Amino acid sequence: MIGIPLIEILEGKARLLVPNPEAYRVSHRTYSPSKTPVFFNPLMKDNRDLMIAVLTVLSNIPHRTVSFAESMGGIGVRTVRALVETNVKEAFYNDSHPLAVKLATENVERNGVLVRTKISSLDANVFQAIHSKSSNRVTYLDLDPFGSSAPYMFTAIGAVQHDGVLGVTSTDSAVLNGLHPSRSLARYGAWIEKTYMMRELGVRLLLGSLARMASSQDVGIVPLISYCESYYVRVYVKILRNKREARLSISKLGFVYYDEESLSWTLARFGETTRRYTGKPIGPIWTAPYCDKNFVRKIYDSSKGCLSPRVIKLLEVMLEELDSFGYIPLPLIAKKLKTNPVATATAVEKIREAGYEASPTIFGSDCIKTGIPPYEYLQFFKTNVLS
Ligand SMILES: C[S@@+](CC[C@H](N)C(=O)[O-])C[C@H]1O[C@@H](n2cnc3c(N)ncnc32)[C@H](O)[C@@H]1O
Repeated sequence: MIGIPLIEILEGKARLLVPNPEAYRVSHRTYSPSKTPVFFNPLMKDNRDLMIAVLTVLSNIPHRTVSFAESMGGIGVRTVRALVETNVKEAFYNDSHPLAVKLATENVERNGVLVRTKISSLDANVFQAIHSKSSNRVTYLDLDPFGSSAPYMFTAIGAVQHDGVLGVTSTDSAVLNGLHPSRSLARYGAWIEKTYMMRELGVRLLLGSLARMASSQDVGIVPLISYCESYYVRVYVKILRNKREARLSISKLGFVYYDEESLSWTLARFGETTRRYTGKPIGPIWTAPYCDKNFVRKIYDSSKGCLSPRVIKLLEVMLEELDSFGYIPLPLIAKKLKTNPVATATAVEKIREAGYEASPTIFGSDCIKTGIPPYEYLQFFKTNVLS
């Protein structure tokens, strides 16, 4: 009926028809989801599991009726899992590709959730704009495009209720990480250059861009969970629809002045004019915390048993991670000081012994966060950590 080779798989509690990977294998080792007529990437299961964990927390709040929407739903895996695995009451599935819609409809039917699903085949921006009417807004919206999320973020913000959550994946890491500064400026409205903390700046660029688009609609954002994988950045932000929150979140934007040679940097919020900054300006980006530890703790406690060891480890590092700006890759310090890198646990311990805060970070197992002033990094490591 769909006209492409399919197989049935089980993901979470959902039984799903998906394009048969064997029919789209590019080599004996590689299966390329983008080669299939309908997109499905089995490797994004961890990403979807975490979304289910977020929905579990949201939909277990007493007296709350939770609705779910996805504007680029592919085979409908997120819609089906949201309805089958959590207390979400109704779902709005959308995808502009007719074949995706056919397959998603089939998947929704075979999991017995058709009566709770509204299916459409619109451009994502049109779908989200329709949901921006106050009576149509949803509790949770998932935005999961090919490539950059930037062209869809404005309407996505509009489609989420007050106190609801927006989940965004952006699969343009090279741009987010500053490998193409003029493209970062064009897409996300900020100048980002390649730095040793590029993964964190990618997260902060995406959050900063969301905060600006939200505040132009008198909406504030509060980041709940943010992280990055090799080829994408993923953020979950709470949406607060009032002017005070809009002003508060926009006040968290700023610039970082970055000096490659000394590894040092200085943070500057808008309106701060009294200090002298050296280095290149990068921004505007989100300068406040990118995770809410209370929310991460709830996710961890409620869903630990359903998450892969990899996601559990990510949440554990989030819980331990300092809320400070920036991180240091230990191999880079070692390279600068012409010595061997020290193990992460050893670095954290020695920095703490010397009286500064330190923690592992979600941005790399060989990186740390610390309260040491950035202009002292090299001297501090030489004297206290590597001696
Ligand atoms: C990355 S896939 C989504 C994967 C899905 N969320 C999942 O977890 O499996 C992106 C989807 O967006 C759809 N798409 C691309 N451009 C679109 C647009 N402008 N409006 C609506 N859907 C679009 C594609 O057909 C594709 O199914």
